[in-house]
Amino acid sequence: MIILGIETSCDETAAALVRDDRTILADVVLSQLDEHQPYGGVVPEIAARAHLDHIDRLVAQAFREAALTLADIDAVAATCGPGLIGGVIVGAMTGKAIAAVSGKPFVAVNHLEGHALTARLTHGLDFPYLLLLVSGGHCQILEVRGVGQFRRLGSTIDDAAGEAFDKVAKMLALGYPGGPAVQRAAAQGDARRFDLPRPLKGKPGSDFSFSGLKNAVRLLIQSVGELSEQDRNDIAAAFQLAVADHIADRASKALKDFAGRHRRTDGQPHHLVVAGGVAANSLLREHLAKMAERQGFTLTAPPLRLCTDNAAMIAWAGLERFRLGFRNGLDFAPRPRWPLDPSAKR
Ligand code: KG4
Ligand code: ZN
Repeated sequence: MIILGIETSCDETAAALVRDDRTILADVVLSQLDEHQPYGGVVPEIAARAHLDHIDRLVAQAFREAALTLADIDAVAATCGPGLIGGVIVGAMTGKAIAAVSGKPFVAVNHLEGHALTARLTHGLDFPYLLLLVSGGHCQILEVRGVGQFRRLGSTIDDAAGEAFDKVAKMLALGYPGGPAVQRAAAQGDARRFDLPRPLKGKPGSDFSFSGLKNAVRLLIQSVGELSEQDRNDIAAAFQLAVADHIADRASKALKDFAGRHRRTDGQPHHLVVAGGVAANSLLREHLAKMAERQGFTLTAPPLRLCTDNAAMIAWAGLERFRLGFRNGLDFAPRPRWPLDPSAKR
């Protein structure tokens, strides 16, 4: 079984072909970084136009790389939300058009489900496991019980983790995207020179929060005044440490909760999977790995290329849905918001 996947929900235009034996036959991603760089963030209208300019070519490239034709695929999967709606519409319409002309079934994929099921493509993980999704648009921890079966144990009550990295990088004039820039600066800095707050410390539950921390950085910058390069590096290091501490601390409660409800009898560890662009942060990975180990979990991280937005994860999620019998009509409406756990309040 071979599925075509299409992803256009943020600033990556992507197409991929994936087979049910977990082989990625083609995986092409075009990042729009350069287009958004002058604005210091993703501009939805620019993103939508760029997706439109490139998606057809990328789909053709994926087929060429895999040496396949439309006749060889079993279904077409496209991200239909959540995300920047202009971009989502471009990908969804492209997927539907290909399905219509080829007569192949169409599968509407939730972008977050793509991230959530990636560890099954890369590591063949069995359900259930925990997923920590930390990206530019999301910060949440989910119990992944099965295809389409999620329970959200915590999520950010304000900003996403990546957004906080991007804002702090902007305040420190470190450039865009902020995460890698903060990590580079922090490597030269002293994380202990400044003390930043740990949001929600000691509060029950596994929710996250970044706006207070971001504000503390703003106040700190004001109090320092003119920033030297060393000041910048030290502030970046203090911020990165606060984020890593905060995320690991909050996530640890979800691990405890999960382990209490899913007792393992086979002596194997539970899995905590991390995904999203912020999962690239090495200090965060270190903190998460230590915290997970303390609680008898193994930290599983898909390769970076599959942690950030890509279409292989969409093809794979489409494949998992398709083989369970799920299909969608061509009238499926793209959704700007589409929570994985509909019972979650926020
Ligand atoms: O998953 P992603 O590529 O796109 C979506 O948001 O869907 O995540 C991008 C985010 C950006 O906010 C970027 O600053 C952050 O991931 N990021 C990092 C690092 N690399 C990328 N944050 C912290 N440390 C990094 N090394
Ligand atoms: Zn994403």
